[in-house]
Amino acid sequence: MRVTETDWQRLCQQYMMPMAGSRLPLTLVRGEGCLVWDDQGREYLDFVGGWAVNSLGHCPPVTVNALREQAATLIHVSNQFYTIPQVQLARLLVENSCLDKAFFSNSGAEANEGAVKVARKYGKLHRNGAYEVITALSSFHGRTLAMVAATGQPKYQVPFTPLPEGFTHVPYNDIAALKKATTDNTCAVMLEPLQGEGGVNVPDLDYFPAVRRWCDEQGLLLILDEVQTGLGRTGTLWGYQQLGIEPDVITLAKGMASGVVIGALLAKESCAVLSPGDHAHTFGGNPLACAAAYATVSHMLENDIPGQACRVGDYFLDRLNDLRDPLPVVAGARGWGLLLALEFNEDIAEEVQVACMQRGLLLNRIRPNLIRFMPPLIATEAVVDRALAVLKAVLAERGR
Ligand SMILES: Cc1ncc(COP(=O)(O)O)c(C=O)c1O
Repeated sequence: MRVTETDWQRLCQQYMMPMAGSRLPLTLVRGEGCLVWDDQGREYLDFVGGWAVNSLGHCPPVTVNALREQAATLIHVSNQFYTIPQVQLARLLVENSCLDKAFFSNSGAEANEGAVKVARKYGKLHRNGAYEVITALSSFHGRTLAMVAATGQPKYQVPFTPLPEGFTHVPYNDIAALKKATTDNTCAVMLEPLQGEGGVNVPDLDYFPAVRRWCDEQGLLLILDEVQTGLGRTGTLWGYQQLGIEPDVITLAKGMASGVVIGALLAKESCAVLSPGDHAHTFGGNPLACAAAYATVSHMLENDIPGQACRVGDYFLDRLNDLRDPLPVVAGARGWGLLLALEFNEDIAEEVQVACMQRGLLLNRIRPNLIRFMPPLIATEAVVDRALAVLKAVLAERGR
């Protein structure tokens, strides 16, 4: 018996726990470049990009080939042995960043857990046992219990109290608040270079240099959560390059391996304090995931994908801001590279998202009045124009 579209969605409701957000009524079965298709054969332009994961587009041949080859060679062995893809990937990331040592996890949240362990151990070794990490309000650091505690948004915390201790939250972009919150118990500051999930909040130019100076003066580690901003998303390889500073630790995940499960923690030599057994995962950094990440990141570097994201992102941002004049409902656009948001003066994001989906454009709504764009970094101006045409038509129609 042929299973229909509605059956997959009904079966999902029957057999799966409901996921955090609400799913859109689409069953996606195939992807290529910036496009995906549903089980009815309908085509969509994907400007969600797997939540900033599909940086090289869907099923990029370079990653697919690396996966095929690695899957036929060695998928997994335990981390009790050396493997070549893991070392190759570590070297690639280290040699192309300001960091010195790598550790691989399976997700962004786990990479952040590792970063907090680095901070706490550093506190024990160098700051008289200081253990508190200062993070920002409106931040997002993942959904393990400690990362829920680190995340500065009560909606993720309330159902799960009591939360692990050791996190203090301050307003983002407010150096005075950060200074005031620092105590003898503080060992690190953990921030996103640009807050993604929290609303695509862009920091002032002087904020991060001031944070860096404060951390240096106080002997605190500066951890940047680059799970979303890392690897070309903001128009430079690393989000920290937008800030004009060097962090002590960064965490990565989303765009690393074209959708294969992996995360990473990179640290300066001076704070790479984890010893064998301090932090580990059964699957973390296995040969298959590392081969996919190595192929993905090498392709990004060889083809200046961050440069393309910068050029196309600037073009997209300008065109989005151009919408303000003809469409009073548009408040404005913001962001870096291909991590952008469009804000409305009314709570119409859901209506816009659904109408765009019906016309073949997939979007991510993060607030009742905010749409976030995270298309593949290989998107061209022509792809952006196609998305804009749908968005304009939808906004014009509702104005009528
Ligand atoms: C900045 C940031 N940190 C951490 C995470 C969590 O990553 P993961 O979902 O891979 O655990 C996310 C996910 O959206 C994120 O945007």
